[in-house]
Amino acid sequence: MMDEIEQQPAALERTLREELPKIEAFRRRIANRPISMVCLVARGTSDNAAVFGRYLIETLVQVPTSLAAASVTTLYRSRPRWKDALVIALSQSGESTDTNLYVQAARESGALTVGITNEQDSSLTRLVDEVFLVHAGREKSVAATKTYTGQLLMLYLLAYALGAPVPPKSLERLPALAERALGAKKAVAALSERYRFMEQAVVVGRGLNYANAFEFALKMMETCYVVAERFSGADFMHGPIALVERAFPVFIFAPPGPTRDTTLDTLRRLRGLEAETILIGPARDSEAAALATRTITVPATGAVPRNCPDDLLTPVPYIIPAQMFCAFLAEQKGLDPDRPRTLTKVTQTI
Ligand code: F6R
Repeated sequence: MMDEIEQQPAALERTLREELPKIEAFRRRIANRPISMVCLVARGTSDNAAVFGRYLIETLVQVPTSLAAASVTTLYRSRPRWKDALVIALSQSGESTDTNLYVQAARESGALTVGITNEQDSSLTRLVDEVFLVHAGREKSVAATKTYTGQLLMLYLLAYALGAPVPPKSLERLPALAERALGAKKAVAALSERYRFMEQAVVVGRGLNYANAFEFALKMMETCYVVAERFSGADFMHGPIALVERAFPVFIFAPPGPTRDTTLDTLRRLRGLEAETILIGPARDSEAAALATRTITVPATGAVPRNCPDDLLTPVPYIIPAQMFCAFLAEQKGLDPDRPRTLTKVTQTI
């Protein structure tokens, strides 16, 4: 898992280089095609990447974007009307049965379909109109890491193709940001020791980092067997915060930008409850750091393109310390994060 975490800068660079020409062609192809909605279909980590895609596309392209409820098609056999819709399937393996059944049915019902996968020779690539590849190299660890950030990158590129003001040039910064995020390795290893006996936790993230809250919690559940719930900062306040008592661990993504002020409010509430808060945020946010019990610092992502929010490029560098934390915590707990009990690399559900 740690090896694959460390391969992310190179994987991102490869993906950007290889897929950009295809994205430019796709952008031209859809320029005059009406797309009135986008639907993302995926499971597990790929579904968490889809959550990011939803926020990104709705924020920067203003096209309503939803996440598929796969059983509507696979079990209830309903066929939504997909006229003028773009359906994007995300799957590391390209072999998730329900993701594939869903996108196939959507294509048959008139949707334009796109597949994002790490496996060129997979079932998914044969089912969709357009394929984009995450060039992460074979992912051997059961816990997906490098394919998650690769999927995030592909979603930035697809948003650009749909008209988002995210010039591909600005994405060239992501491999270097990922590399710098890996620089927190020693600090994260030391921090993980403190949580060796942690059995439950909450992860909070909002906006573009809401997906990261889901992904961090999933990694903690599958590699460390920690019962990890995840919430947007707003949802957390609407009830679940009641479960927090003294020293309860709450991990919080705290990027700059539109979500920062409400994240500070959440931190203040948690401080009043004497919770154990672990912040993932930029070094220069001393106000946020002063409210937290512990801080994992991530590199500042720099200026963003015009008409983009300040947290635009944070999701990739912010998930990396979380991935490393899970790999180290599993080790602290005497577990093998590459082979979690009960799991196999490809899970086939319908
Ligand atoms: C989590 C993990 C799983 C997969 C899920 C979907 O680390 O690996 O949750 O993400 O089974 O698999 P794919 O992406 O192959 O469709």
